[in-house]
Amino acid sequence: MILQRRNRILRQSLAIRSMVAETKLSADDFIVPLFIDEGSDTRIEIPSMPGYYRTTLDLTVEEVKELWSMGLKSVLLFIKCKDEWKDNTGKEAWNPDGLMQRAIKAIKDAVPEMLVMTDVALDPYSSFGHDGIVENGQIVNDPTVEALVKMSISHARAGADFVAPSDMMDGRIGAIRQGLEAEGFSNTGIMSYSAKYASCFYGPFRDALDSAPGFGDKKTYQMDYANRTEAVKETLMDIEEGADIVMVKPALAYLDIIREVKNSVSVPVSAYNISGEYAMIKAAAKMGWINEDKAILETLTSIKRAGADLIATYFAKDAVRLLG
Ligand code: PBG
Repeated sequence: MILQRRNRILRQSLAIRSMVAETKLSADDFIVPLFIDEGSDTRIEIPSMPGYYRTTLDLTVEEVKELWSMGLKSVLLFIKCKDEWKDNTGKEAWNPDGLMQRAIKAIKDAVPEMLVMTDVALDPYSSFGHDGIVENGQIVNDPTVEALVKMSISHARAGADFVAPSDMMDGRIGAIRQGLEAEGFSNTGIMSYSAKYASCFYGPFRDALDSAPGFGDKKTYQMDYANRTEAVKETLMDIEEGADIVMVKPALAYLDIIREVKNSVSVPVSAYNISGEYAMIKAAAKMGWINEDKAILETLTSIKRAGADLIATYFAKDAVRLLG
């Protein structure tokens, strides 16, 4: 054959493939979620997230030092709240001496340059396991937003660089921005979980924090996975209200949403490669059905290629090792 154009020319060696690769992962892309527990010198493997741990604060600080040494520059903190401190108001969430607030301080003291982002939602602190305050079986929006503002201010006061509201209440980004401004935290950023879907893939995370909803589901606040246009509406509203970074969550069953959002906004877009996505790769690898290392890189590359500027992922350390 005499062909005018041969596409395989650009694929014939590693050298040419890496020169023309459109998407490249690096440590700068990743946000590392950390699960923190009360106590000392203990790490507990999360059964549905093999290889991932909930650790006490002392060990978390050691982990953060290691992450920094690997070039990972941001962490996203989650804490496990003791049952006896949970109630319907979620007030432990803004306790100035709470585990989250102590964790923020300890991490910023140990590694001041590490970007500390904090999950803002009531579910770990709620006796109902919901992201908001419950009245007559309903998750009430406006009282919840007031609680989220208090929570965000207390994180900022402890030294958080970004608060990351993951609750999907209406109007919370604007209220949090105003609350931060009023308290003088003009440098604290907001990474909003803007398009967060009601997903079955959060299951392992809820095991990690013991935060599964006690009744019903989260469909009156998290989005319906049938919808795409709505993700753009939610995201644009969050940007208008003051979100510095927006997020699509989950990532893998939502790559089309990531692209749609990326094409619609001019702020950085993050995506959360969530617990169930981690668990699926781990489980298939354990069965010997896929190659774990290759699956990690292919998955993370697909999320970046879809349009994510940042990826929150439990595979961050693995990825850095594999890229190294
Ligand atoms: C809490 C929150 C959840 C996740 C992050 N923040 C769970 C939920 O909304 O039920 C999920 C993260 C993961 O599955 O990895 N609002």
